[in-house]
Amino acid sequence: MKFFIDTANLEEIKQANLRGWVDGVTTNPSLIAKENRPFHDIIREICKEIPGPVSAEVISLQHEEMVREGKELAKIASNVVVKIPMCEDGMIAVKKLTAEGIKTNVTLVFSPLQALLAAKAGATMVSPFVGRLDDIGSDGMAMVSQVIQIYDQYDFATEVLVASVRGPMHLQFAAEMGADIATIPFKVMQQMTSHPLTDKGIKQFMDDWNKGQKK
Ligand code: E4P
Repeated sequence: MKFFIDTANLEEIKQANLRGWVDGVTTNPSLIAKENRPFHDIIREICKEIPGPVSAEVISLQHEEMVREGKELAKIASNVVVKIPMCEDGMIAVKKLTAEGIKTNVTLVFSPLQALLAAKAGATMVSPFVGRLDDIGSDGMAMVSQVIQIYDQYDFATEVLVASVRGPMHLQFAAEMGADIATIPFKVMQQMTSHPLTDKGIKQFMDDWNKGQKK
């Protein structure tokens, strides 16, 4: 299973990468806006730091513009993946960019049928948003399970990238279901490392060691 980090903050990316947790990066317009720096500079710097896929999202909603923006983004580095929102124009853009050898990530996917259409259009990755579905009283992980079942049934090459991850249990379920990728905020990665019994065990080993050394 690949781990992407869901941030546009270079320091967080470096910290997570030091720990061996970063196979790729996802950004979106909201994450980019938090950084207060030019979009292309941010993506260029992330791509230098991480050799894996780095998703950069188009902001147009019209397919010719999406394709133009996508081509500009793809010129920044060979590991850029163009993120396209799920909509009819988006699917046209995915088909065109795919035909030109440019990788795509279809974002804002909230149903198995949207994921099926993204795969038909030739998307490299599809991003089902689990947290935002949970927020409206739906079951985000159940939707991921349906997407995986459909893709397996028809051997689609599109990778399932679990997005809008809010806590460690989203990751555990995604891993059990065999999702290809999850994109994770750094805070959630850190939450996944800790367990009270680990902390207790470390303290006990240290206390015993120190007592033994005094003999
Ligand atoms: C990643 O590709 C998405 O943009 C991101 O996971 C959205 O997460 P959010 O629902 O917490 O904003």
